[in-house]
Amino acid sequence: MFRKVKDDIYSVGIIDWHRKLFDELIPLPDGTSYNSYFVKGEEKNAIIDTVEPDFVQDFLDNLDDLGVEKIDYIISNHAEQDHSGSIPHLLEKFPEAEVLSSKKAKPMLLDLLDLDSDQIRVVEDGETVDLGGRTLEFIDTPWVHWPETMSTYLQEENILFPCDFFGSHLATSDLFVEDHSEVYKAAKRYYAEIMMPFRMIIKKNLAKLEDYEIDMIAPSHGPIYDNPEMILEAYQEWVSDEVKPEVVVPYVSMHGSTDDLIKYFISRLIDEGIKVKPFNLADVDLGDLAISLVDASTVIFGSPTVLTGPHPSAVYAAYLANVLKPKTRYASIIGSYGWAGRMTDKLLELMPNLKVELYDPVVAKGHGAEEDYQEIDRLVEEVKADLENL
Ligand code: FEO
Repeated sequence: MFRKVKDDIYSVGIIDWHRKLFDELIPLPDGTSYNSYFVKGEEKNAIIDTVEPDFVQDFLDNLDDLGVEKIDYIISNHAEQDHSGSIPHLLEKFPEAEVLSSKKAKPMLLDLLDLDSDQIRVVEDGETVDLGGRTLEFIDTPWVHWPETMSTYLQEENILFPCDFFGSHLATSDLFVEDHSEVYKAAKRYYAEIMMPFRMIIKKNLAKLEDYEIDMIAPSHGPIYDNPEMILEAYQEWVSDEVKPEVVVPYVSMHGSTDDLIKYFISRLIDEGIKVKPFNLADVDLGDLAISLVDASTVIFGSPTVLTGPHPSAVYAAYLANVLKPKTRYASIIGSYGWAGRMTDKLLELMPNLKVELYDPVVAKGHGAEEDYQEIDRLVEEVKADLENL
């Protein structure tokens, strides 16, 4: 299967309808795709990124279906195997092809794949290759989401091929974005799970791309943006320092005490007209939690005490929040204990990356007394005051 993007530019990748997890970690509720692009010039041809190697035969069949007889350049924007993994197989079929990568990507490709050093040529930021009537320019766009990442820009057509950058894990038969809200959510999930820890560097990449006229963004996951303002504006918003007045509440309860406290907290926030997003960690899609952390001002964890510390599900959520480095400004903890423990200290120790103002936690003995619920009232007042001053 191949699909025409523009004259002599084809999408030759794979739609992975049924993949459920990425990195055995990240839920993929909508599957994904591994996009690869064939660009034909008057003299030379290029492939931009390849596909997950499990699908290499389908990928090679796509090229056969298209009638590709010669490949001069295999451009590796990103060394991760879902894009690079089929390069050795492609080189077996097209041994004359030259792999082009960033300086940092070359040793990574050699570490990850069965390739020889002389099969890979390093290209510099701003360097171009001429396909004959078509010019590909390489733009260093590091840390989206590995250190070696670059984008490829087709000058004559103003098409950016940024690999993971701007991508979405979305299996769809739409070659181009048709359902904006569906793609927006998938792209936000992708940003939250993959890109958010590198928010400040991505800001610089976005600023760099402002020097380019971009009519189309063709990422290596998800549909192509033929109206790229949508995703460029979304990224600008996500990487900005602005937060939304929203309270995210990841919580877990064992015998209902923490649950009662959290329910009261949520109802009090709603009484005050404050947007709240609870996530029961006993049964949560971590991607949904990550999305909510992209722009929420406040996160309040809920956990009982297990063996003197937080519940392991709360530990997992706190660890995740710490590595994702959201721009959250305020945080606290609500929980309960039976006889003793350092639940709040241990949970906070897991989140040194969160540059937040901490409200005093509310920790009840057992199911909680009147004073504990008054403490929740106090917490709600503090949250409200800060949200009014955002
Ligand atoms: Fe889609 Fe970072 O690989």
